[in-house]
Amino acid sequence: MRKQDLSLTNVERSLDPDELIVTKTDLSGKIRYGNRTFYKFAGYSPAECVGTQHNIIRHPAMPRTVFKLLWDTIKTGDEVFAYVNNRSKNGDNYWVFAHVTPSWNEAGKIVGYHSNRRAPNKTVIHEHIEPLYAALLEIERTSGSPKDALAAGERQVHELLQSKGMSFNELMFALGV
Ligand SMILES: Cc1cc2nc3c(=O)[nH]c(=O)nc-3n(C[C@H](O)[C@H](O)[C@H](O)COP(=O)(O)O)c2cc1C
Repeated sequence: MRKQDLSLTNVERSLDPDELIVTKTDLSGKIRYGNRTFYKFAGYSPAECVGTQHNIIRHPAMPRTVFKLLWDTIKTGDEVFAYVNNRSKNGDNYWVFAHVTPSWNEAGKIVGYHSNRRAPNKTVIHEHIEPLYAALLEIERTSGSPKDALAAGERQVHELLQSKGMSFNELMFALGV
């Protein structure tokens, strides 16, 4: 865990309904662009972020399983929708509803990724997402090696989706956004 993960203020910040956080990354997830709202919530300057991995705003309470699912999805050219809890530089946190998708060049090749996030439905977070992410974190924590932990987390998500007969994106929209 990085040093800054250790400090959390327990202060939650919220996007206004008309605010959108936008970032673009290269193929490896290094930030290439962030809009003004991104920097406002992240608390970092463009100089601190551009060229840096997007995990600069990773919140320690986010399950690794969710990011594995995100990357597995966008690398194959698909888009993903997910609730994400982020950490500001000062240790505040802010939840978003994120859409993450590949950027293509004219030859049909993925050349990077971009994401738009908006204010999430807090009721959905409290009733569904926080319990799901807490369960995934616990599974990851108790499943041995990092590899085993991710496999166990993925199994859990897979079983949940099978029981609902839905894809991950369908479940996100079924919960409400
Ligand atoms: C376009 C794009 C946007 C992303 N946005 C976020 C984000 O807002 N917060 C976040 O924690 N990770 C985001 N990620 C995922 C990170 O690249 C990374 O997988 C995640 O922070 C977990 O970091 P870790 O693997 O070092 O634990 C994004 C990735 C891409 C490609």
